[in-house]
Amino acid sequence: PTPPFNSRHFSIDDPASLWVVVNKTRPLDPKNYVPTLASLSFPGGAGQMRPDAAAALKQMFADYRAQSGTQLTVVSPYRSYTKQVSTYNGWVARLGQAQADRQSARPGTSEHQTGLAVDINTGSDQGFGATPPGMWLAANSYKYGFIVRYPDGLESITGYEYEPWHFRYIGVELATELDTTGIETREQFFGL
Ligand code: DAL
Ligand code: ZN
Repeated sequence: PTPPFNSRHFSIDDPASLWVVVNKTRPLDPKNYVPTLASLSFPGGAGQMRPDAAAALKQMFADYRAQSGTQLTVVSPYRSYTKQVSTYNGWVARLGQAQADRQSARPGTSEHQTGLAVDINTGSDQGFGATPPGMWLAANSYKYGFIVRYPDGLESITGYEYEPWHFRYIGVELATELDTTGIETREQFFGL
């Protein structure tokens, strides 16, 4: 028999943990945390992610390309605390603080700073979720250990509007458990 899923296998507090949950009420500790990083190259650019997440992303991109004949790309992988300062401030300048807070994390509260989050193909087009690559990713990314971190209609739980482009690496074990149970967020899964 298959043993029951161990929901305490990894920490959800340690910023270096694969399962770390970072949101508006769970900032990174320390707030200037820097993960171990690997270089990431992708069509049109380069950046950094944690080595485990980068390897999974590379495999997912290769499989998508083999199946569809088209390429995915990265618009934003790891972002440092300092980079998140400019990213967040840019959204505030464009949209005002109230709307910026619905789409951009304040510095020290972004999962991009863990090295485990990545924006694919776009960083702002909610229509991406209804495109072939967006639908393929939503259906298949769990097999590579990724989840759609900010699903449609769950802003009251995640704190953010729908972001069909933003994927968070949590490992195949937990991503598969979420897919199997149909529980879309770790806030719900862990009862946070
Ligand atoms: N757009 C997500 C919430 C971030 O800034 O991390
Ligand atoms: Zn993102």
